[in-house]
Amino acid sequence: MSTASWPLGVHGISYGADYNPEQWTPDVWRDDVRLMREANVDVVALGVFAWSSLEPRRGEYTWEWLDEVIDLLHDGGIRVALGTATASPPPWLTTQHPDILPLDREGRTLSPGGRQAYSVTHPAWREAALALATRIAQRYGRHPAIAAWHLDNEMAAHVSRDYSDAAAAAFQVWLRERYATVETLNEAWATTFWSQRYSDFAEVLPPRLAPTVTNPTHELDFRRFSSETWRRWCAELAQTVREHSQGVPITTNLVPMTGSDALDLFRWRDTLDFVAIDHYTIAADPDRHIELALVADLARGLALGAPWMLAEHAPSAVNWQPVNVPKSAGDSLLGTLAHVARGADAAMFFQWRQSLGGVERFHSAMVPHAGTNSVGWRRARELGGLIETLDEVRGSRVTARVAILWDYEAWWACELPSSPSSEVRYIDHLRALYSALWRQNVTVDVRHPSDDLADYAVVLVPTLTLADPATAATLSAAAGAGAQILVTYFSGIVDLDGRVVPGGYPGIFRDLLGIRVDEFAPLLAGEPVGMDDGSAGRLWSERIEVTDAEVLRRFTSGPVLGGAALTRRSVGRGAAWYLATRLDDDDLERLLLHLCSVAGVAADQPAPSGVETIVRRDADAEFVFVLNHTDAPQSVEVGGTDLLTGNVHGESSIVPAHHALVLRRPRGRSQEPPVRRRRDG
Ligand code: GLA
Repeated sequence: MSTASWPLGVHGISYGADYNPEQWTPDVWRDDVRLMREANVDVVALGVFAWSSLEPRRGEYTWEWLDEVIDLLHDGGIRVALGTATASPPPWLTTQHPDILPLDREGRTLSPGGRQAYSVTHPAWREAALALATRIAQRYGRHPAIAAWHLDNEMAAHVSRDYSDAAAAAFQVWLRERYATVETLNEAWATTFWSQRYSDFAEVLPPRLAPTVTNPTHELDFRRFSSETWRRWCAELAQTVREHSQGVPITTNLVPMTGSDALDLFRWRDTLDFVAIDHYTIAADPDRHIELALVADLARGLALGAPWMLAEHAPSAVNWQPVNVPKSAGDSLLGTLAHVARGADAAMFFQWRQSLGGVERFHSAMVPHAGTNSVGWRRARELGGLIETLDEVRGSRVTARVAILWDYEAWWACELPSSPSSEVRYIDHLRALYSALWRQNVTVDVRHPSDDLADYAVVLVPTLTLADPATAATLSAAAGAGAQILVTYFSGIVDLDGRVVPGGYPGIFRDLLGIRVDEFAPLLAGEPVGMDDGSAGRLWSERIEVTDAEVLRRFTSGPVLGGAALTRRSVGRGAAWYLATRLDDDDLERLLLHLCSVAGVAADQPAPSGVETIVRRDADAEFVFVLNHTDAPQSVEVGGTDLLTGNVHGESSIVPAHHALVLRRPRGRSQEPPVRRRRDG
């Protein structure tokens, strides 16, 4: 990824939406451009789902309407992130080639009628979709309105894994690339177990529905393959449009929500010119603002700290939750600003004008069904005005002294069936650790285990079930240089082939941590364990033999009564800690605060409970985002000029309930954390 890449011709923090003019008549388009200007919209994602409107029959193109829309937008000063229109195949294609339809694990065909009904590995799909993308790129790639490419849409969102024959053939090719010989595959997959030895790659199928649980490394590799297949498709589309549009940056809207493990997004860094994500909150989640922060920090981690784009979020209600609650004014304002605070230099909605028909007719939009005499429109316009006040924030960076490791392969390995406890969910513990620090306003970078961790003061390693010995070396070096490393239960258990590292758990991290676990003792639901400092754990315990570490806490109840629950090994100028249970949230918060204080890490900008603070910095100034998620006004000990209002605050400021301040102050009042680098190689 080139970190310098950004949509062409935009200024300040961009504001916009998905725009689907094919659903509307030309008089509405004119109105749209006028309203977009009124709301300070400067960029729209266009043509994402327009295939059947652009190519109603194979090889027959109807460009005129899109020509007109692009010209109208250009004349109105609205920049275009142009779609490849490949996100949903038109009925003529699936009628001519029913075999491009994907299959689920149970062998059921995923029929047309929704969207993304294609097998990404199928040659007929690729041919038709690349032909369309080529024509679009040839026609518009040099149009002055084009700011960026928006490839396809939310790849893998609906079909994360395809079990069709086309996928089987591609899987066999991928396995041959990975293992070269079938014997190597047999070794990696431990196929002597249950008589699964293969004599040819052609015998290997996707892990379809079977009489019982399927081979774990087969499953792991199928997840790797499926993720990589989507990435290669993205790279192929990128190559296609790049040939016809020199210098136009390319992205796609990734979906790094904490519920989705479909794609190993860290591997997409080199495929995109800049990172763009979609993010939707779950109305029933009382901590949705913390989940939002985590995903935004993940986006920044994917971008290696560079500015990223929020390509979609909802102006208000969505249409796909059991009850689609509209956003409050506060949720809407704070939701947008929280993304910007954490490094987004563009905030876009799905979608511009609310559809009258189709599946998403009840999904909110900037221009709602009610028209401009509506809360939705007034809010959209007001937000556009506020975002315009943040122009100078663009390009400034967020830095952190704490890293939390996120690894999709470890996620997959952690949640494979037939594991010690199906209650151990990868994202649960990662989110718990992150939330504890969010509540203390400690800024966290989300990092991949292969990234450079050398400059962090604290590194958190939740549930990294699958790990590479290189990660142990990286963590050991970081600890040696002074970092406090915290590894938590069910980490370092299997190698990259999913094979258990023998000799006592956690094989990969045994030496780093100075412990040896001889038996897991996961806990049944509702079965807490106590510890000698009064804290409580759930979900997990284990029998630890300490080989080269001090025991900081012991279990005082449960299956390993008297056994170690928290250990610490000094490593150089730092230390490697190990936590053997899922601490209750308050206890976890206390532990992490202690770790931070040992490491000399504190909040960039302390604030009362429920008030989120994040600092973005550039060469001359700091921008302190203060987001009040509580029902009452709050006071924070920070002054500066509030960019949102122009008001100047002295040494302290009041932030109204469910409102925000973005305070600019000269650089240098607080200590600047070091800038991160990615580890090469
Ligand atoms: C996703 C898609 C959009 C739309 C929204 C609705 O983000 O990319 O096309 O369906 O969801 O929430």
